Amino acid sequence: MKRVARALLGAVAMVGLAVGVAQADPQKAEVFHWWTSGGEAAAVQEFAKAFDAAGGQWVDTAIGGSGSTARPIGINRIIGGDPPAAMQFNTGKQIDELVAQGLIRNLDDIAEKEGWKAALPPAFYDAVTRDGHVIAVPINNHGQNWVWYNKAVLDKAGVAEPTTWDEFFAAGDKLKAAGIIPVAVGGQPWQLNLMLNAILLSEGGKDLYLKVYRDLDPEAVKSPEFKKVAEIFGKIRDYSDPGNPNRDWNVATGMVISGKAGFQFMGDWAKGEFVLANQVAGKDFGCILGPGQKNFIMGGDVFIFPKLKDEAGTKAQDLLATVMMSKDAQVAFNAKKGSVPVRLDVDNSALDACAKIGVEVLQDPDKQIPAADILASADVVQSLTDVVAEYWANPSMSADDFVAKWNTAVEQAK
Ligand code: GAL
Repeated sequence: MKRVARALLGAVAMVGLAVGVAQADPQKAEVFHWWTSGGEAAAVQEFAKAFDAAGGQWVDTAIGGSGSTARPIGINRIIGGDPPAAMQFNTGKQIDELVAQGLIRNLDDIAEKEGWKAALPPAFYDAVTRDGHVIAVPINNHGQNWVWYNKAVLDKAGVAEPTTWDEFFAAGDKLKAAGIIPVAVGGQPWQLNLMLNAILLSEGGKDLYLKVYRDLDPEAVKSPEFKKVAEIFGKIRDYSDPGNPNRDWNVATGMVISGKAGFQFMGDWAKGEFVLANQVAGKDFGCILGPGQKNFIMGGDVFIFPKLKDEAGTKAQDLLATVMMSKDAQVAFNAKKGSVPVRLDVDNSALDACAKIGVEVLQDPDKQIPAADILASADVVQSLTDVVAEYWANPSMSADDFVAKWNTAVEQAK
């Protein structure tokens, strides 16, 4: 009798398991992004873990080389009818064409149910809303105008945190004399544009930055102040190293981490690399907005959810969007990503010394400066980025030539 009972129990268990598996079939979602550095991959893992724990199955498609390589590939897949369940873009206008083509689903129900509007800074809620519909999940707040430095290297060279550009270049001269590369530069167009924008805000000020990027005002670009920005940017060529062309951003960060270089102009995703190298903000490395800056160029990343044909895929998207905006996933992901959580209602007490500077500045809306991707179209930003890269690569190009090319590029891309 016992054997029969055992057999029956076994059969019931198998059915139960099968039913259980059927009910718990993981909700599969392919997530397309460009996070391939050590710090970025560690951060993505936090989202993947949270999604899988919630009943999803994260299928990872990572294409490195930063967004410049990945975005065209992902956009072609969506237009070609082979969309991933979710795709990364920078916060701002990069998604506008896909939205206009009706290829992106709106997330109004989830946003409503989860109270996203109340949880987000107005600038980020607006950045993911088109015609009153929520069309993306903002997942972080990346400061773009940070300058990172190796504390031991600066201390050894007798260099203090620069608060002006004169102090910055004096520090660079001391580092050169000590045999240290003053500035680790990744000579890729997007990185050079990021560095120019940090100088534009720091030297030119908030009004000039907004006139240049929000208003696309050619007179602002012809101003003596903008010319000074161009001259400072050009001068940094003499404080970088011949190996900078096409250097990946995280390789440049590695030069500061190892002490080969003193400074790097980079967004706070660079912090993810310091964290991975077990370096501590305020102890092993320092960070300034600037130099001498108190404004925070606020950018970040969003995920859009292309319209899918199957109901299961759409359900998986619902789960993924909910998980990505959840408080726990936000804190876990951003701690590894180097960014600040985009939600205002999460506990930031564990943030490091650099992130705390960012959160402090962000308390004042007047200091929240939208990134170029938020203010200008993808075409304008790309055209200007190409002009900046051309100027960097051609020391013989004058600041006046650069100004003229900038305005021509804007006219042609508008
Ligand atoms: C930026 C993105 C960041 C960071 C960086 C380098 O566009 O917002 O998340 O990863 O690229 O890949």
